[in-house]
Amino acid sequence: MSAVIPVADPTRPLECPQIYDLSRPLEIEVGCGRGRFLTGRAAKMPECEFLGIERMKERVNVFASKVRRLGISNAHVLRLEALYTFHYLLPAHHARRVYVFFPDPWPKKKHRSHRLFGSLFLNALWKRLEVGGRLEFATDHAEYFGAVEECFAADARFRRVAPMERGPDEWTEFETLFRGQGLPIHSAAWETLPADDAPLAPLTIAPEDEPREGVFRRDSRGKEWRDANADRD
Ligand SMILES: C[S@@+](CC[C@H](N)C(=O)[O-])C[C@H]1O[C@@H](n2cnc3c(N)ncnc32)[C@H](O)[C@@H]1O
Repeated sequence: MSAVIPVADPTRPLECPQIYDLSRPLEIEVGCGRGRFLTGRAAKMPECEFLGIERMKERVNVFASKVRRLGISNAHVLRLEALYTFHYLLPAHHARRVYVFFPDPWPKKKHRSHRLFGSLFLNALWKRLEVGGRLEFATDHAEYFGAVEECFAADARFRRVAPMERGPDEWTEFETLFRGQGLPIHSAAWETLPADDAPLAPLTIAPEDEPREGVFRRDSRGKEWRDANADRD
């Protein structure tokens, strides 16, 4: 069976019983790329379930072939937008760890709204992590690191803790590249605290920002087009 979980409806829980098996711990990586970190961890920890979330098709396919090659059944991958996945598709308070390593930093001011970390993501993240569960974060981008630190500092549902230590065999693909170039890497982690468990309000997303199959881009006049090359990636 393929490691890729099909998504029939991005607003309904996932059709993957292992992710909902509360007797097995769950770890999730957002933007898992080709799965270097997560598939390696899954191979070492058969007692745990692992879910990668990645929106690029080629990377999802490489993740799935790694899983096949390793002959493991506890690593899964989902081709979908991370915010939607956290908001609608995952069980409540089940994940013990969420990893976000080298997310796109969207350095230009006019693109900051594309960044993952913000109040919507933190609400959904808190809802999916168990109490005492952790978010592990790393980036090479100092300004984005500061912005994420501020985001968590303003949210009383999270407490800062020491980040996990990872050796070269647990570096992600981008991390291996950046460390090889001698770039400084910033890491941090936060743990969830008990708090008022209010239901998440439905996401209100502009129709043009709704998740769709494929990669869509805009030209300089704002006209949208589907990038078939990125789709094939
Ligand atoms: C800079 S790459 C880092 C990949 C991997 N974490 C690593 O360190 O090698 C960021 C990855 O996150 C994916 N990504 C970015 N935003 C995402 C989102 N909102 N939902 C799902 N995947 C996302 C991109 O497609 C890309 O593969």
